[in-house]
Amino acid sequence: MSTDTYGLGKHGAVLLSNPGLLNMVLHHEHLYRDLADPIALFKGNVPTELASYWSYTQSDVTAAHKEATATYSQLMADTQPMVAAQVLAAYSFSNTKRMLDLGGGTGAFLRAVNARYEHIEATVYDLPAVIESAVKNNRSDVNLHHESGKADSSNNKNSVQFIAGNFFNDPLPDGYDTISVVRILHDHNTDAVTALLKKIYLSLPPDGTLLIAEPMANTRRAERVGAVYFNCYFLAMNQGEPRSIQTLERMLQEAGFSKIDHHPTTLPLVCSVMTATK
Ligand SMILES: C[S@@+](CC[C@H](N)C(=O)[O-])C[C@H]1O[C@@H](n2cnc3c(N)ncnc32)[C@H](O)[C@@H]1O
Repeated sequence: MSTDTYGLGKHGAVLLSNPGLLNMVLHHEHLYRDLADPIALFKGNVPTELASYWSYTQSDVTAAHKEATATYSQLMADTQPMVAAQVLAAYSFSNTKRMLDLGGGTGAFLRAVNARYEHIEATVYDLPAVIESAVKNNRSDVNLHHESGKADSSNNKNSVQFIAGNFFNDPLPDGYDTISVVRILHDHNTDAVTALLKKIYLSLPPDGTLLIAEPMANTRRAERVGAVYFNCYFLAMNQGEPRSIQTLERMLQEAGFSKIDHHPTTLPLVCSVMTATK
């Protein structure tokens, strides 16, 4: 091999075969630039790239936001298979009939659930800009409902439905026995999460289930990453934090949930899974 030729080792080959990992590496250019002056970042109140990248969730969507929305939604879709694999191995959805995935992006998680559990009527709920781009990319199996709170009753097997809305500001649609929040709660501050959990509790029927899947703080074999990586990431995002199973358990109890379970996963770095019953 000549000196100016490069070859891929085992780790490089893994990256090339996994668009989720590769896109995650590329996405981190924002975090690395935010970490260029770590002291300023840790002191807080500095404008960060990650915060502006994420700002499409906070305000009216501009053209720049639209681009960030599409890029971010693609990143989420590309990294979703490893999350869905963890959730499906840890939890059985055999008793679920109608499921709503809050902040479900392009529907990648619900498609993975539907591939295993065909009987489930699955609906994604996300911000209008995200749903619009999901519709563009999946025109064949998407039914769009811009008016928050209305799902299509003519749901076909394996056809994910989409509802556009803001889960903080708009009423949540009811009639779902299972609501999932996958990589959602850690993105938001405690006041917002407290309000959302209460809202979810109220929209579920008696015996309804809330499923939470995300990396959690202080989980065995992900302690250091939880403490260092996620705290830096959320600091740069200017909102959110990784929460421990114990903290989430307390917040779920305060929202009114009774039976709270933790379902261990093999890769807590990717996600841990908790369920709570109304
Ligand atoms: C970290 S991504 C997770 C996406 C998906 N659940 C997954 O794991 O692949 C967060 C998602 O929440 C959505 N989101 C953020 N704020 C929202 C809000 N107020 N109402 C509805 N969706 C929201 C974002 O648009 C994004 O799709």
